[in-house]
Amino acid sequence: MIQAIRGTRDLFGEELQWHRIIEATTRDVLEAAGAIEIRTPIFEDAAVFEKGVGATTDIVQHEMYTFTDRGGRRLVLRPEGTAGVMRAFLEHGMQVWPLPVKLYYLGPMFRAERPQKGRQRQFHQAGFESIGLESPLADAEAIALLVDILKALGLKRFELKLSSLGDPEDRIRYNDYLRQALGPYANELSDDSRNRLQRNPMRILDSKAEADQAVLRKAGIRPILEFLGPDARSHFEVVQTYLNRLGIDFVVAPHLVRGLDYYRRTAFEVHHEGLGAQSALGGGGRYDGLTELLGGPSVPGIGWAIGIERLVLALKAEGQHPKKQERRAIYFVPLDEDAVGEALGLAQSLRPRIRAEFAYVPRRPAKGIKEAEKRGARWVGFLGEAERVRGTVTVKDLATGEQHELARDALGEWVEGL
Ligand code: HAM
Repeated sequence: MIQAIRGTRDLFGEELQWHRIIEATTRDVLEAAGAIEIRTPIFEDAAVFEKGVGATTDIVQHEMYTFTDRGGRRLVLRPEGTAGVMRAFLEHGMQVWPLPVKLYYLGPMFRAERPQKGRQRQFHQAGFESIGLESPLADAEAIALLVDILKALGLKRFELKLSSLGDPEDRIRYNDYLRQALGPYANELSDDSRNRLQRNPMRILDSKAEADQAVLRKAGIRPILEFLGPDARSHFEVVQTYLNRLGIDFVVAPHLVRGLDYYRRTAFEVHHEGLGAQSALGGGGRYDGLTELLGGPSVPGIGWAIGIERLVLALKAEGQHPKKQERRAIYFVPLDEDAVGEALGLAQSLRPRIRAEFAYVPRRPAKGIKEAEKRGARWVGFLGEAERVRGTVTVKDLATGEQHELARDALGEWVEGL
């Protein structure tokens, strides 16, 4: 039998209910802050991510679903949302909109990683981008909105880790330092990382290879936070001041590394103890240089993305359950063959004011009640010979056991009064 591809999942039932709750909460919180939704294509020109995310990142080197279409174009299933959103921002000239432009997105992302708990090949993100301001106010607001969503969902045991990755000139100094500090260990590094030592040493810090991590421990690498220039340092301090004023708990995590190259200055992640090895349920940061990498003018921005599957795992780890499906529903039970069409007609006449379903074949009352219970309906509407003659339906409330006969043309009014 054909099965779903490893690392992908069918979403339905309780799992899908969780996704919908998270999506609805994301919309509520972000729209209240003036954000609008954007839906960019699932596949893009490969250059969007190669330039945006960075050629030496694990994502671009190993994890992208890249393919050539019939027209010979190199395309990629999007591994993340930010680069595509910024491509769209430039393409539609949103720089002239009142700034900051706040955009949010919900949808699937694709990374060819080894599947494990909390790591899939198709996963879903809820993301937010605040574009156009360099002010640390934008950083604090973005982070506050992320925390608001988690709190609105009732999540408690999460930790916000905050750091700064500096300005480009700080990165040059830091990369020089890394080349010096790691140079003597070049032979012990993985092939990827030996290559990165010249091209982009900072990427070695994010390597998943055990050999690289061992070298990093041995070399006692200092964090970039110690290399910040005065501008990045004061930006970082002001962000912290605003977060403190908002009463948002965070820890400064000097060794925080992000898997994408476009970050500058503020970087952060939210971790949850219930997630195991893949403990980051969300992450983000400032990406002031990204529009230029995509060939546009300089536009600053800051944003984040939450991994929806990981957030569901975290909510479950805290013992949460999605709310039970609303029992506000009626199930029509035809008692004879003639009533089957009437059941369809009555169900249709009440939808969508109430969830209305019916048995497609005649049922005895006891069996009809059982079916209604299985479908989580609160009321049963019996349709038999007597009801037909009188133009009524006998409605039984399964919650109270009460039963009464209602005129069919009064059913609409009955639903309104529930
Ligand atoms: P990211 O840290 O690569 O950032 O991904 C954000 C979140 O997506 C992660 O914290 C994780 O919860 C989830 N995630 C990533 N990969 C997987 C996977 N293979 N399976 C399940 N969940 C996964 C970004 O994507 C940036 N675009 C965030 C951002 C927006 N930065 C600025 N603006």
